[in-house]
Formats: sequence, C-alpha cells, structure tokens
Amino acid sequence: MCGIVGYIGNEQAQPILLTGLEKLEYRGYDSAGIYVVEHQKGYLFKEVGRIQQLKEATDYSICATYGIGHTRWATHGVPSTQNAHPHQSFDKRFTLVHNGVIENYQELKETYLSHVVLQGQTDTEVIVSLIAYFAQEKQWSAKQSFQYVLSLIHGSYAFALIDNQTPDVIYAAKHKSPLLVGIGSQFNMVCSDAMAGIHQTRQFIELHDGEFVTLTKADVSIEKDGHIIQRQSYTAQIDASDLEKGTYPFYMLKEIDEQPAVLRRIIKEYTKDNQLDIPNDVKQAILTSDRIHIIACGTSYHAGLVGKYYLETFAHIPTEVHIASEFSYHPPLISGKPFFIFISQSGETADSRQALVKINEWNYPSLTLTNVNGSTLSRESNYTLLLHAGPEIAVASTKAYIAQMAVLSIIAYALSHDTLKDAFNLSYELSLVSNAMESIISQKDDIHIFAKTYLKDAKHAFFIGRGLDYLVSLEAALKLKEISYIQTEGFAAGELKHGTIALIEQNTPVFTIITQDETSLNTRGNIQEVKARGAKTCTFVMGKLATKDDQFILPDVSKYLSPLLSIVPSQLLAYYATLELGYDVDKPRNLAKSVTVE
Ligand code: F6R
Repeated sequence: MCGIVGYIGNEQAQPILLTGLEKLEYRGYDSAGIYVVEHQKGYLFKEVGRIQQLKEATDYSICATYGIGHTRWATHGVPSTQNAHPHQSFDKRFTLVHNGVIENYQELKETYLSHVVLQGQTDTEVIVSLIAYFAQEKQWSAKQSFQYVLSLIHGSYAFALIDNQTPDVIYAAKHKSPLLVGIGSQFNMVCSDAMAGIHQTRQFIELHDGEFVTLTKADVSIEKDGHIIQRQSYTAQIDASDLEKGTYPFYMLKEIDEQPAVLRRIIKEYTKDNQLDIPNDVKQAILTSDRIHIIACGTSYHAGLVGKYYLETFAHIPTEVHIASEFSYHPPLISGKPFFIFISQSGETADSRQALVKINEWNYPSLTLTNVNGSTLSRESNYTLLLHAGPEIAVASTKAYIAQMAVLSIIAYALSHDTLKDAFNLSYELSLVSNAMESIISQKDDIHIFAKTYLKDAKHAFFIGRGLDYLVSLEAALKLKEISYIQTEGFAAGELKHGTIALIEQNTPVFTIITQDETSLNTRGNIQEVKARGAKTCTFVMGKLATKDDQFILPDVSKYLSPLLSIVPSQLLAYYATLELGYDVDKPRNLAKSVTVE
C-alpha cells in the first residue's frame, strides 16, 4: 500500500528518492510523486502509473539536497495526478506525503477550510492545508501547526512534511501506519520500510505511535508529548540481492523458486539440540491456554487454516481461525484462557493490527508470526516468531505462505507429546518436502503447458479437494484469481453438488488436489461428477495415490505436510496463466502488498 521515502543530506535527492520509491513498488501503487528542494525552491513531480514514468518526468538538472516521495494506492479519490502525493497546501508553503486514512477529514475540512478550493479528493490535501491554515491564523511555526493538526486527527498516518519557510528540515509523524528513520553519515531518511532506504543505509530507528520527528542532515530528534525519546538504531538484515530480480522476469517466479531454500532455512533456524523447537517462554504461554485463536487475512488466513489442523492433530489444542477484519468487530465467545496467534507476512496489515489492539485491551497473550522483524504486529504482541522467508516483493504471496505453514507445523510439533516426536521426525519430513519442491519446480515447463491448455480462454475456474487439500484449494484459487483475473473458486470437493456444481459448463477448468489417502476415492467421484457436466479436469496427485489418468504427479511426502508441496504447482499455474494473458504478474491491479488500511 502507500509508501513514503524522505531524504535530507548532501547528495542529489531525486535519484535517492526515486530508487527508494522503486523499492516500495512491491507494496502496490497506482501513482507516485516526489517533491525536492534546491536552495529553498521546491519542485514537484507527480505521475499516474509506474515509477518509470515519474523518473522520465523528473528534472535532474535541479541540485536538490532534500525531498520527500510517495507511492499512492488510492483510498480517497481515483488515481490521478491531482490525487497523487506529495500534496501542497493552498498557499503552497507546505508539502506533505501520507500513508494511512484520516477518518474525520471531511469534518475538519468543513470546520476550518470551507473557504479553500482543494485540487483533489484526498484526505491528505485537507491535512496539509489545515497545517497552512493554522500557521497563518495563529502565526505558528510549522512544527506547532503540524503538531496541533495531529491532535485533531482521527485515523492512521505516517506523514513526512516539508515547510518552505523552514529550510533544510523534514518533519515526520506516525500513528498506526509504519515509519522508520534511516540514519546515515551526513544524511538522514524517513521511510515506510527498510527496503526504501537500504540503498543508502542499514541503520534504522523504529518509530512508535504518537512520535514526532525532526530530521536535518546531521540530526534526528524524536519526541512524544513534548518529551525527547532516545532509541537505539538497529541494523537491517536485508541482503541487497534479495531485493533484486536477478535473471528472473518476475519476482513471483524467483520467490516460488526460493521455496525449497526457505524451508531449509526455517529448519536451521528452529533446530535446537537436534530437534525442531520454539522458545520455551512461547511454549509455556501456549500450554497454559485452553484454546488458540489464529487471526490473519488472505493468504496468511489460509496458512492459519492449515495451522489449525497442525495444532489440533499434533498438539491436541482446540484452535479457531478468524479473518482479522471480521474478528475485530464481531469477536466470538472467548474461552477462559485463550492464546492468540497473528499471522502476517508484512506484520503491518491494518485489519490484523486492529484485532491485536483489541486483544491487548483485553489483556490476552499473543504471538505474531511474521517475516518482518520489528514490524508493528511483532512489536505489539507478546511474542514473535520469524518466518525467515526473506523479503517477499511480488504482491501474490508464495514463499511466505509455505513459511507460515512450516513454522505453524513446528509450533504444533514443539507442543506435542513425545509419542508423536518418537514416531514422526518433522525436521526430516520437512527436508523431504524441500527436495520434493525442487522436483516440482524443475517441471515448471509442464505446468506452463497446463496453463496454456486449461486457462487460455477461461473466464472461470475451480480448485477442489477435501480436508487439507480443500484448504490448499482455497489458496490456489486466490493465487490464480488475484493475478490472472480469472474468477476462481476454491471448494470442498464434496460440497460442490450442494449448489455450486450448477456453475460447471462445457470446458470449465476444474483442478483437483489429491494427497490424502482416506478421501482420494471420494474426491475422484467428485471429479467424475464435474466431468459428466463438461468440465475440463486436471489433477495434482500424490505419487502413491496416482493413476495413469492423472495429469501431474507430486512426489510422496508426509500426508501432514502435503500442503507445503501441493500448493507449488498451483502457484506456477497462476504465474504462467498470467504471463500468457500478458498481465503484470508482480503488480496485479487494485492490490497492494502491505495493506495498511482497514
Ligand atoms: C495474497 C496476499 C494477501 C495477504 C494479505 C495479508 O497473495 O498476499 O492475501 O496474505 O493481504 O497480508 P499479511 O500476511 O502481510 O498480513
């Protein structure tokens, strides 16, 4: 979702800001802009579309040494140059970028700015004009006006502000939306995440809600409620090569290919005394609870459904899985000693964060599984376990999903009785999965052919399965629909005949996942039902259950761990279908990587 980058130093600001914005592209955006200042004169560049267009529109003859930049994912108002950030106040004195949503902006506009004609429809333009209004009316400094406006706002924000009358300063503020300060020698930065600044520095300071920052090239001052905050910087552990596509045409393909290595890294990170384990304090906290509630969105929710299976099957702990946006406003009846697990690749998803705020108000213990150390959910929950998937750039989540399921299996295993551990060596079984993934990935050309054969002219498609295969079908369907725009349903195979089978027509593609012995025959019966109604069927079947009529054979792995493997052909199918249709695989329309609005 929206991304912010700001730089103040001695170097030319435009390339630094534009590179930062490119690194934020993965979050999803529809327009972008920068504002840079040379000798107290500001220059604004904004474009709808890709950063490349903004790069082409930028004037590099300006020797600006500071500025702010933004990628926008439309919430208030259509994608347009007027609505793109940075926004300027009606008197052009102030320039602002914003990530988040201001809930009471209409009310503020009516109360204070009824005389002002605004250029676009955004909440941000109201805020920057409000800062100018109070600076004029009250003869306040930029800082006083900005802080006063912050006190009037309801909603979420990360802001970076430049005032033409306060040269060589960038102000920033944060509440509920992520923002970091990047520390350099003779320069400083603000950015939505470390990736936007990693080309300049590895040292970052996390900002907390309610904090206000004044940046110059030599100094960073963080304050909250008038008190100066001292906080150590941390070194971002991002490998620059993780951020590059290398020889891959798209990040999604690179990230699918990385999955075997991610799995091996997880095994290594969670091995203690030759056994997969989790920290003792996390284990004890979960073991004293009577029920686990998993809360997540999208792909992470799908991983949570598989996690429920692990926690109930391995550890015998009753587990419920909730969609975060539903949980916050319609919480279920909660047992006496619940434990909450949040799953979030980014650690910044506003819906999950809102649920965590509630859990914290109710004083229940929580654990976050995330890929981003120091992210908001990680900071605000009691415990964190990392996914170790490496930065995931493509909007469609792949390696984070398999990492989430792997870490959930390790948690459940760590909580299980010795009898399971004696009979089942999870570390060994996961390593077999990682080898099996490699074998599937090496057959990607076959899956490319499936994509052409089954999906070329498809308007609708289905993934079906039973039990764990049904849970994977949900994720497989999400993958295909979100990037190829082919309307796809993931369905419990046995449930089709209770209504949805009415949608099957001549040549409707139906992909079936079969990895579970006890349900394979029933699922095959369901394939016959759709075939009889004209469906074009394709099966992804575990080797030991395969017949000569199956289309794609998955290497045999533990039946518990099959979701980590059976999703891989579906990820590749989604990738190649989208490639064939000519869409941007990594940046599907209307979607953002880090969804920081509710
Ligand atoms: C789909 C996808 C999304 C995310 C969801 C939650 O490919 O990536 O469905 O899973 O937006 O995001 P996180 O995991 O960052 O909380």
